[in-house]
Amino acid sequence: MIDEIRAWARSHTERSRYSPVGIAFHWVMAVLVLFQLGWGYYSSWLPAGGNKLYAYEVHSAVGLPVLLLAIGRFGWRLMIPGPVNDADRQGWQTRIAYAMHYVFYIAFFGLPLSGWAMWSSIAEPGPLHLAGVIPWPQLPFDQLPLTTRWRIMDLAEDIHQLLVITLLLVIPLHVAAALKHHFWDRHDVLRGMLPEIPDAEDPREGGSHRPRQPRIPKEKAPG
Ligand code: HEM
Ligand code: HEM
Repeated sequence: MIDEIRAWARSHTERSRYSPVGIAFHWVMAVLVLFQLGWGYYSSWLPAGGNKLYAYEVHSAVGLPVLLLAIGRFGWRLMIPGPVNDADRQGWQTRIAYAMHYVFYIAFFGLPLSGWAMWSSIAEPGPLHLAGVIPWPQLPFDQLPLTTRWRIMDLAEDIHQLLVITLLLVIPLHVAAALKHHFWDRHDVLRGMLPEIPDAEDPREGGSHRPRQPRIPKEKAPG
């Protein structure tokens, strides 16, 4: 079974493309994380009260699935190495790109975990829900002395903020690098991360389809 999945994924990665699973993980998580960055700041700027609490409930409901997706994506990445593409032959640039990928993975785990720790370290405000529906347990901090819980809260808040700032620095670099490789260097990196649209006229596919010749109007036809 695993061998078959690997072979299927290789049929994509050998053509310098991420597999459809890798592509789905990338774009679903990119949307969730970008939403979380905006919504997190929006929530933190709201005045204290019911709306703020509701905003943080939405924030945790959307953020907790990131943790599950991160586990799935990390497992997938261990099983299926990414493709080798044009940009992988660029020495220090390639090393920076890989370093950025590691930083992203640290944030995918660290942000939901530190958020979860923050919620669990304060008795209020109540239970967590995955995607707003499935009940999610609190971490077992309720028996700890109050001062320890406050310390956990402070530490988790610092980690959360540090990872947020890191993402705010790394995401623009990552996107700029992807666009530069695509439009400037004409590399295949971005194409490998976009869903594949079968194109019968793409000469690299070697398909049999040929564009139709324009029709010549009868009265002008020779003879
Ligand atoms: C990808 C996931 C996440 C991202 C990108 C993210 C991002 C943010 C941002 C931008 C802020 C506001 C700025 C700040 O105070 O640092 C924030 C605050 C906060 N987030 Fe998240 N977050 C994520 C996941 C979570 C999760 C899963 C939870 C809870 C289970 C959570 C709980 C909180 C809390 C309690 C705050 C307020 C912190 C404070 O008062 O300083 N976050 N988050
Ligand atoms: C419009 C925005 C984005 C574009 C155009 C983009 C483009 C790309 C491209 C082309 C790659 C392949 C790079 C390579 O193989 O060297 C990639 C990989 C990656 N991107 Fe993005 N990206 C975007 C947003 C994001 C965001 C917001 C995140 C994180 C929240 C992210 C996280 C990653 C990660 C972790 C990888 C490594 C591949 C993997 O392990 O699955 N990207 N991205």
